[in-house]
Formats: sequence, C-alpha cells, structure tokens
Amino acid sequence: MTRFKAKKHYFCIMISNFSTRLERWYETYGRDLPWRKTCDPYLIMLSEFILQQTQIVQGMSYYLRFAERFPTAQSLAEASEEEVMRMWQGLGYYSRARHLHAAAKQIAEAGHFPKDYSFVRALPGVGDYTAAAIMSFAFGEPYAVIDGNVQRVLARHFGITEPVDSSQGKKLLRALADEMLDIKRPALYNQAIMDFGACLCKPTSPLCETCPLAETCQALSTHQVDKLPVKSKRTAIRDRFFTYIYTRTADGKTLLHRRGGGDIWQGLFEFPMIESDCKLTSKQVDEFIHASLVKVSVNVKVELLAQGICHQLTHQRLHADFYCLTLPFADEKMQGQWVEESDLDRYALPRLLEKLLEKLPMN
Ligand code: ADE
Repeated sequence: MTRFKAKKHYFCIMISNFSTRLERWYETYGRDLPWRKTCDPYLIMLSEFILQQTQIVQGMSYYLRFAERFPTAQSLAEASEEEVMRMWQGLGYYSRARHLHAAAKQIAEAGHFPKDYSFVRALPGVGDYTAAAIMSFAFGEPYAVIDGNVQRVLARHFGITEPVDSSQGKKLLRALADEMLDIKRPALYNQAIMDFGACLCKPTSPLCETCPLAETCQALSTHQVDKLPVKSKRTAIRDRFFTYIYTRTADGKTLLHRRGGGDIWQGLFEFPMIESDCKLTSKQVDEFIHASLVKVSVNVKVELLAQGICHQLTHQRLHADFYCLTLPFADEKMQGQWVEESDLDRYALPRLLEKLLEKLPMN
C-alpha cells in the first residue's frame, strides 16, 4: 500500500502491482515496432524525434528510411541540411528536423553517445520526455517518461483532477510517474505505460471492460473516465491567408525561394506568395503581380487554379489560394531562383504546396 499526497487530498491506492499489471499487459498486447528492437541510443533518439510529429504508421516508414540512409549519428551529421529536410518532408515541424541534425552533429563531435542524462537533455530538441525515453530505452536507466499517453493513464487511474498542464498538476504527475516507475525494468515499464495509453486507455472509447487495471482505477469507480485528464489551457488557433503564385515559363521553369527563420517552414522552398489578413480578390492578386512580381513589361497569363484550400497546423489554420502565372521567359530580375519544373521533387516543399501542385495542369 502506498500513500500518495496530492495537495490536500490523500490517495490510498493499491499500487504495488500497478507496474506488474501494465508490463504483463504489454508483454501480451504491446505493439511490435522496429525501434523497440534496438538499444542504439542514436536510433532511439531518431525514432522519438519522428514519432513526436506523427502517428505510428506514418512514422514507421520515415524511421526505416532515415535509419537506412543515416544508420549512425556520424552519417546524419555529415548530411547536408537540404537532404535532411527533403527526407523529413511531409512530417511537418521542420524545426525538429533541424534540431535532430544539430543533435547528431553534437553526438558525432563527442565521438560516441554518452550515457549521461545532462548531455542527452541538453541536446537540441530534447526535452524531459525524449531524454527519459533515450536514457531508459537505450541505457536501461531509471527515468520515467511522461507524454500525453502517460498523463492520461496516471490521471485516470489515480483520479488526478488537477489540470495536467498546470504547474501543480505537472508536479503531481512527475512525482507519481517517478513513484510508479519500475526501476528494475525502466525500458519495459515506460514502453508498457505509453502503449497502454495509446491502445487501451485511449482518449475516447477506452477499453475499460477488458482493462487489467480496472479494479483499482479511480476514474472508473467514480465515473470520470471521460472527464480525465483535465486540461486548463486552450491554445488559440490563428488564421492565416496565403496566396501562392506558381510562376512558370513557356520552357518549363518555375520560380522558388527559400523560407527564412522565425516562422513556419524555415528552410523549406515555396513559390512566390502574398500573405494577407483575409482572402485576396483576383483583382488584388493581378495588381500585386504587375506591381511587385513581374519586373519587365511582357504579356502574362494569370489563372486561378484553386481557392480556399485549408491546411491545419498545430496552432495555425492556413487558407491558401493558388494562381498560375505564365511568362514567356525566365526574368532573372525576379526574386528567387528559377528551377526546372521537372526538378521540383529535389526541393523540400511544405505539404500544403505539394497539395497545391496536384492542381497544376501538366504541360
Ligand atoms: N510515441 C513516441 N515514442 C514512442 C515509442 N517509443 N513507441 C511507441 N510510440 C511512441
């Protein structure tokens, strides 16, 4: 019997076999995933960077491709940023790809992957969760992971009603997670609780009828499963309006430019674009093309190919219109770089632009 203190409340809960029941469940039902077959800290780091962006199914193909092309931190460190971005294309959150690349450089510089929490935690893009995942999965060190799945399992099982994103709630969960960790088998326990959260104790429609922890689940006995975990913050979604002008010449060239820092898609390529507070009219787009884009006096053709394409990022909703501007020749005075349209797949483009390209008539 363990007593767990939460603010003014005391939970007296049978937890002695919490970890054992989770681990038994995992040994029978846990998913067979490629990064679970390795203890290589670099490959585990790679999988964690990828998995924070995406679902397992999609993450798997990215992981396998990256692990094949860059089997060591050294090989990734030596790759060009452009190649890394191109391989990351489609996963979104490109700053994570840059962090992954920078982390590989630091590991390569160290000569090996040190079994040292402070080193791991200080790597670019590595927070508490990823550091604990690497330390436990690769080195068997007793660090408890807390991700969304773990938060949910703990909050429900122990009836934590504090918002999990409040400082009190975070402290409480950290203490509880550390206490529940099976220090003899931290890798097994961490994988088990995450998988349990992902597959059984799911956000909606959790499988309580078959749950091996049902007997001691506070949320279940107090009918609060669908209310826990509590979250206090709602992140505001920002709407942005992008008008893309795909600029092509009669001989098959198109204009690209590379996005700078301080915004989404840093380092990725895109077509000439106007950002505005609301949707632009065709007349406004025409005026922009003649006033700012086309530098010489030539006959141009402007066509609207698609409009109102919505693309959701975590905290932003992008609304895109897509125009095609046809010029007789490539004007070198225009801002950006002219590339062959047939070479476009060599450039890392945001997923939204790939969607827009599908609207482009082939010549
Ligand atoms: N999501 C993030 N890390 C994971 C892991 N190691 N296994 C399964 N899902 C994950």
